[in-house]
Amino acid sequence: MTAAETTPLIYVLRNDLGLKGVRTGCVIGECGSCTVIADGHSLRSCQISLGDAAGMDLVTPEGLGTPDAPHPVQEAFLSEQAGQCGYCINGMIMAVAAAVDAGTIAGEEDARKALEELICRCGTHTRIVKAALRAAGVETEDAGAHGSVERLPGAEADAQAGLPEIVDRYPRMEQWLRLTQEGYVEVDSPKVELGQGISGALRQIAATQLGLPMDLVTLAPTTTGRSVDLGHTAGSNSVEHGGIPLAYAAVAFRRALLERGAALLDAPASQVELTAAGVVRPGTDAAVSLAQLATGEPLTGAITAADVPDWTAAGLGAPLPRADLVRKLTGAGVYLHDLELPGMLHARALLPPSYDAQVATEPDLQQIATAVGARRILRDGRIFLVVAEREDVAIRGVNRLRDAVRWSYDGPDEPVDVLSLLRTLDGDDHQTRLDDGIGEAFAAGRTHKATYSKPYEAHAPMSPSASIGMADGDRLRIWTHSQSPYPLRAELAVLFERDEDAVVVVHVEGPGAYGMNGADDAAALAALAAFAVPGEPVRFQHSMDDEFGWDPYGSAMVADLEASLDENGRIVGYRHRSWTDTHYARPDGNGDRLLVQWLGERGPGRPRFGGHEGGWRNTVPLYDVGARDIVTRHVRGPLRTGSLRSLGSYMHVFEIESFMDELAELAGQDPVAFRLAHLDDERGRHVLEVAAQTAGWEPHVGPSGRGQGVAFARYKDVKGYAAQVVDVRVDPESGTFTVTRVVVVCDAGTVINPDGLRNQLEGATIQSLSRCLGESLTVTTRGVKERNLSDYPLIGFSGIPRLEVVLVDRPGYPPLGTGESATPPLAAAVANAIDDALGVRLRNLPLTAASLERRLLELSEAEMARVRL
Ligand code: FES
Ligand code: FES
Repeated sequence: MTAAETTPLIYVLRNDLGLKGVRTGCVIGECGSCTVIADGHSLRSCQISLGDAAGMDLVTPEGLGTPDAPHPVQEAFLSEQAGQCGYCINGMIMAVAAAVDAGTIAGEEDARKALEELICRCGTHTRIVKAALRAAGVETEDAGAHGSVERLPGAEADAQAGLPEIVDRYPRMEQWLRLTQEGYVEVDSPKVELGQGISGALRQIAATQLGLPMDLVTLAPTTTGRSVDLGHTAGSNSVEHGGIPLAYAAVAFRRALLERGAALLDAPASQVELTAAGVVRPGTDAAVSLAQLATGEPLTGAITAADVPDWTAAGLGAPLPRADLVRKLTGAGVYLHDLELPGMLHARALLPPSYDAQVATEPDLQQIATAVGARRILRDGRIFLVVAEREDVAIRGVNRLRDAVRWSYDGPDEPVDVLSLLRTLDGDDHQTRLDDGIGEAFAAGRTHKATYSKPYEAHAPMSPSASIGMADGDRLRIWTHSQSPYPLRAELAVLFERDEDAVVVVHVEGPGAYGMNGADDAAALAALAAFAVPGEPVRFQHSMDDEFGWDPYGSAMVADLEASLDENGRIVGYRHRSWTDTHYARPDGNGDRLLVQWLGERGPGRPRFGGHEGGWRNTVPLYDVGARDIVTRHVRGPLRTGSLRSLGSYMHVFEIESFMDELAELAGQDPVAFRLAHLDDERGRHVLEVAAQTAGWEPHVGPSGRGQGVAFARYKDVKGYAAQVVDVRVDPESGTFTVTRVVVVCDAGTVINPDGLRNQLEGATIQSLSRCLGESLTVTTRGVKERNLSDYPLIGFSGIPRLEVVLVDRPGYPPLGTGESATPPLAAAVANAIDDALGVRLRNLPLTAASLERRLLELSEAEMARVRL
């Protein structure tokens, strides 16, 4: 079937011409992922039809350069390592290439202007701006992010520490690595790539422990039945749970390589070495290559307690460029969204317009299928699926269906006061701490109370989730960008009543998800479509409207904090009450977590309520706050919720770190000094002190007018330490805030790849800034109002501050997860900086000019006395 003249150009470029470097995103002209150069100008290919594009001179990312010969603009982006998931970057490159050709980038402001209308959800903005300046030949020294590494004395490897628990579960080296016939060591990826650069870090870990160059180590995608089952890739666990056990396996594998090489060379194992040339006997010509070592039986054996990794090995701590970015940034079709299988069909869904909508009138589905040229339209409960040979035809079918299906509702569409509602709902109380002496602590001291909140938030990925399914009899194969290949397999098996062994889930990277977005739902919908057309692969993709409308949102939360101070200004009692919906709704093998169950014929209910850990994560301050009474109530709120980056920590660190500033003022102390006075943890103290020093902190009590704020946390109490100092400029007339500078200091133990870690910290900081300065969903009885990127206020290039990242490297200390460390403290640092500038304490996220205006109206007399306006 050929394309109609009305077909949006993006589908012709991607699907008819195979030019997948033109990424598919919002398809409403908002994100810029699909940008091409048309007659010398950048153009969004989703916004023009094939007919209107006729006669234009078009350049796509593939036309700029190739992985082997990148265009100078692509080179500039690679030099700056400007990409996390990388999904948005081709659009950025095309916009910059057009601007460079037009000669419109002469400085940083011009670069930001050229990029302002494009979106990067990962928060790679500073690197993108630097890349644009580099491409334009403009000096980049003062632009974007800056960083340094503080290397502290190393720790000895501890052979007595025993094997990690995950090695106990997967105790054999062949469960982790193998030698290929071509002489490469192939690692089965234990964790999936989410744009965090884990694929490079895992290769780096394996290569350094093997003692081989990185290019001899390859990574196979996580595939159920083949890779080790480490559950979800989430919670900043990838290096800790995947990388550390892999390191033990690599040490064991090196031992096995040496033993086999020694046997083949007829030499004692102590007299041979492993090099890129294979196993060699120094001082002689004797050598056996890696390919020769691969002949015969596969290398197998147990990982032993003596196979202790060397975390000070050469190659760790080296700023290696990410190999995966080369193809991503030169237009290759590397994402799940780009995967094209022979004979692949396309499926799109019409889902109910709200949680409560029921089908009132069903049209003649066959008639609509015939009219639009679709293969078939199927209905499963409240889900309608259009399957077609062309993606644009499937979309046309859904649009036709939308006009034809009538829905009925339980009641009118009315606003919901979420924060009041959460407090009134029944729920499960989790008492995290209840110390003796709490009553006495509050009876004696001077007390202070405050209430904080955050709204519901969306994941808002760059592109709606997608998946490919193929059914063959009872067997099902799913390609997915889910963060949970094994749990998803278990969920699909139950949902579709298949043996787990009959379901294979293959991970393929997608655009950044930042938690559980619609990827798992898309996989189940692809499976539903695949069973309808057995033997043919079907690519399903959500619409952006459904990605927003059915997202497992980050929950709204409310917290009441109360503390008691003694006469010396020391905290002696601490009470904390918070209300939240679940932060965990990932598939787990019960068949009751996904849309296919919720909306389809397989089950009537909303996805099962999830676990509670995310809701009380980081509720216990790392500070010594005396006697503690900490309770989190988990309620079932009006929206479906799940994991959004850093889960409940985002809110709890916001409230604790805001409250610490309030208490410092009450105690008549400087905010940094007050924190240090209550903090025994040496590593925590160190990052706070380095952050204050780097930012030029000036001790003060109460608002200084300077506009500087600090915050600190150890993510999940056991992961990376991060402290941030924020500078804000406030326009007192308009009430708008500009964050001008953020200093980030992080201690994550041994640094594997400093540039990769810095990239993560920069992204987490900018994304968190976007959240705290504007992201919020409007809730009504029918769901949320915001249904696309155009409705949801993500940060743009004009709002990006100068970033300074300091890494505290502790060689020999186990690497700690840190993908989310910089997310939680940022909002409190901004609120503290605003208070320092204005003397106005904002306690409800997001922090906006409107919230400042509202707050000014409700200030008490005592609060008014602090205001510096
Ligand atoms: S602007 Fe075209 S896909 Fe977003
Ligand atoms: S790198 Fe920009 S969206 Fe991921």
